[in-house]
Amino acid sequence: MAVTAVVGCQWGDEGKGKIVDLLSEPADLVARFQGGPNAGHTVVHEGEETILHQIPSGILHPHTVCLLGNGTVIDPRILFDEIRELEEKGVEVRGRLFISHKAHLIMPYHRAIDEAAEQAAGTRRIGTTGRGIGPAYTDKYQRCGVRIVDLLDRDHLETKLRANLRDKNRLLKNYYNSTALDVNRIIDEYIAFDEKADPFIKDVSVLLNDAIDEGESVLLEGAQGTLLDIDHGTYPFVTSSNPTAGAAATGLGIGPRRIDHVIGVMKAYTTRVGNGPFPTELAEPMQSRFRDWGEEYGATTGRARRCGWLDLVIARYAARVNGLDSWALTKLDVLSELDEINVCTGYIHRGKRIVHFPAEPWVLDEVEPEYETLRGWKQDIRGVRRYADLPGECRRYLDFIRKHTGIDIELISVGAEREAYVPLGSGELAPVS
Ligand code: GDP
Ligand code: IMO
Ligand code: MG
Repeated sequence: MAVTAVVGCQWGDEGKGKIVDLLSEPADLVARFQGGPNAGHTVVHEGEETILHQIPSGILHPHTVCLLGNGTVIDPRILFDEIRELEEKGVEVRGRLFISHKAHLIMPYHRAIDEAAEQAAGTRRIGTTGRGIGPAYTDKYQRCGVRIVDLLDRDHLETKLRANLRDKNRLLKNYYNSTALDVNRIIDEYIAFDEKADPFIKDVSVLLNDAIDEGESVLLEGAQGTLLDIDHGTYPFVTSSNPTAGAAATGLGIGPRRIDHVIGVMKAYTTRVGNGPFPTELAEPMQSRFRDWGEEYGATTGRARRCGWLDLVIARYAARVNGLDSWALTKLDVLSELDEINVCTGYIHRGKRIVHFPAEPWVLDEVEPEYETLRGWKQDIRGVRRYADLPGECRRYLDFIRKHTGIDIELISVGAEREAYVPLGSGELAPVS
């Protein structure tokens, strides 16, 4: 497939980094279209773990060109640290990473406001990553954001920063009772980024459209997940961008018809980091067991992830709003310890069955998941590389997901390493009935 979008279908951390790295082998370009350093995408290759926050997960393949689209928000401090860390590992980044001149910058005041707003919200806090994502996108839509192009003219940048800092310092001091930021230090810091950023800046839309015209193969890498989407997620407990597939077009400056294929990454169970509703969340001690088996700690903040059973109401919803062609099902190996596995197939709310994933937070808080219980396989599957070698109960789990979602499973992941996966060619599973 020429242009393939890879999107998260739960609350993030589905294993997008692993899948994008794996699929990057035959890709010419890998592009992020939204989000910023709130993402933590883990790639494990030859025993070495790399966590990518802003740079696309295709960067470890030396032949790929990696792009950050206009829909992303860039924190230059974190980006240059990430570039340095990759270079220290021997990964060539220069000449292979390009950032859209239209992407917005995350400023120090965005991080300060993110933290202050979370503190002020008390028990109603979202549990953000503290990376300034919400305030940066707020400024984008408020039309006072600082874009990469603004770095190209020092006078223009300084005037814009002074105006913004005057307003933001008022907000921080007078509204949040927080400390004001040093205007001159920030101006000096961002003026210095100008020189460093220069070789990375490109018109990503032109570059990408030209590449597609020439028949190059492209991966579009989503960050976060469908239920963190500002429109389709569990609002207000969401991020401030659109991780769903439609945003790949606007976030990169390509037409929607350029996208040939959409793969949904879904964990074989569910996790969530941060606050908000979670219908299939497990009670203790199962919650902690899942966390241990799956090593469910945030790749960006180190926070413990909340764990729950697989939720096929969410899966069907994600299939619909992303227009999925197939699933990449990850972390199936984590379920190998279980005698029995529950899968949520529907919700009951006040005695009534709910067909579609609800938008009302109070309904989501109250729904009772309907579970079907499947037998576990109780075997280590981490070394399996062919569908036929999977235990029968494991194949039944896959078939169950496929039947209840109407979407084919393209591959399953059975370990963090790049090689730990099983491709499921079409026709290997019985047809959906
Ligand atoms: P992302 O944000 O969607 O890229 O996911 P994260 O990297 O935040 O979290 C996924 C975690 O699971 C990482 O630690 C991965 O190394 C790990 N992982 C990915 N796929 C598998 C898998 O199939 N099995 C196991 N056991 N771990 C996996
Ligand atoms: P990847 O790409 C999991 C969550 C935060 C919080 C909410 C809003 O690794 O899947 P934000 O800082 O974006 O304003 O926080 O979204 N969140 C993520 N959860 N994985 C992520 O990214 C996330 N990025 C943001 O925990 O609940
Ligand atoms: Mg992550």
